[in-house]
Amino acid sequence: MASMIGLLAVMAIPVTTSVAQGIKGDREEKAKAKLPPYFTLFSECKTSPLHSHKQLVLRDNNCYLNTTSSPTAGHPFGGYIRLFINSETPALVTSTSFDPPALGWLYVDKETRRVKYGNRAEAGEGLFGPWTYDAFGLNMEDWYGFVAVEEDGEWAMYAEVKGQEGKIEGVNVRLVQEPIEELIPTKK
Ligand SMILES: *[C@@H]1O[C@H](CO)[C@@H](O)[C@H](O)[C@H]1NC(C)=O
Repeated sequence: MASMIGLLAVMAIPVTTSVAQGIKGDREEKAKAKLPPYFTLFSECKTSPLHSHKQLVLRDNNCYLNTTSSPTAGHPFGGYIRLFINSETPALVTSTSFDPPALGWLYVDKETRRVKYGNRAEAGEGLFGPWTYDAFGLNMEDWYGFVAVEEDGEWAMYAEVKGQEGKIEGVNVRLVQEPIEELIPTKK
């Protein structure tokens, strides 16, 4: 009896090991397939319903809250955090157009403190990271927060960054994630 159990135990080892490896492999595949997690951004503002739950949209290199009902308000932000090119800094990629498919980087203009998007060179001139995401929403190191500023009836996004003087007059908002399936929707 004892030798029987011993034999079973020996035989069982390779089987369970390969099954375990298989499951581990599947999990790794799934984790890989899921990464990177794409998300869009919506505003949150406890004091103003107008500035709450509005999607961040991109237009003409600037970012706005979509407070309108217009489908031409801009291109909806949709992206993920990844390292900036040739850099250790976590940066924020977003689609900038679906057709033709195009990507850009979200950054803050150092002088105007406007939240903008652009190509690698444009973002490289501004504050392109390190972007982080925590309980307070989208964030950057040494950071105060996002401010929506009215410009010709639209609400443009600005950012107060530590070390940069002067308060930005506007409505303080947070930007929180909502998951999206694809960076660029596949054509049906
Ligand atoms: C802006 O929001 C409105 C209302 O939710 C929606 O109909 C419109 O498609 C949005 N525009 C963009 C560009 O996301």
